[in-house]
Amino acid sequence: MSLLNIETSRLILRPFTPEDAAAAAPLLRDPDVIHFMGATPLSEDDVAETIRGHRVRYYERLGMGALAGVLKGTDHLVGRYALTLAEIEGAEELEVSYLTSVAYRRHGYAREAVRGILAAAWGEGRSRIVAVIRPDNTASLRLAEGIGLRFEKYVQRDGIEMELYVAAPGGQAG
Ligand SMILES: CC(C)(COP(=O)(O)OP(=O)(O)OC[C@H]1O[C@@H](n2cnc3c(N)ncnc32)[C@H](O)[C@@H]1OP(=O)(O)O)[C@@H](O)C(=O)NCCC(=O)NCCS
Repeated sequence: MSLLNIETSRLILRPFTPEDAAAAAPLLRDPDVIHFMGATPLSEDDVAETIRGHRVRYYERLGMGALAGVLKGTDHLVGRYALTLAEIEGAEELEVSYLTSVAYRRHGYAREAVRGILAAAWGEGRSRIVAVIRPDNTASLRLAEGIGLRFEKYVQRDGIEMELYVAAPGGQAG
């Protein structure tokens, strides 16, 4: 496995292609995503363009990025699960983020995908991954804590106070 092709028990996590734009655009229009992740609703064409840019900036240059979580044996897009580089209060961090389509929530897919990404990252020699979560995002906080991420500190992002959670090898709950 690499950081671009990860298999979990029920999901294949693989790079997005421009052909995913029609399925991916509605994910970003979810009110929770706009509220918690500050995403701007994008047209299908904009999403395709974003994916093209992401391919060069992330997949090709860094060998990581936002992955499409696809239900094994189908072409159903369950969510978007990402490992990206972020500058957080002057420090460069590897950040995991997660988004499950409303139709697939509460089936354990985000937990499974994040665990898969963390395991792959530890396998590649990474030793610290963060998640940046709004204090009112109960679902995300519970997910992070349930997997075994630990609260480290409050950080400012886009003028909002967020909670920085940290994952380290061996720190995840089974
Ligand atoms: C947060 C989010 C990704 C969870 O996705 P999911 O696939 O439904 O999560 P899972 O089914 O893997 O849930 C794992 C655990 O997270 C917690 N959790 C998930 N959704 C929850 C909710 N709505 N309320 C409370 N806890 C929740 C629970 O502890 C859950 O375990 P359980 O179902 O055994 O109780 C999803 O709600 C989402 O996409 N939200 C909008 C985007 C977002 O806020 N992303 C996080 C940005 S930091």
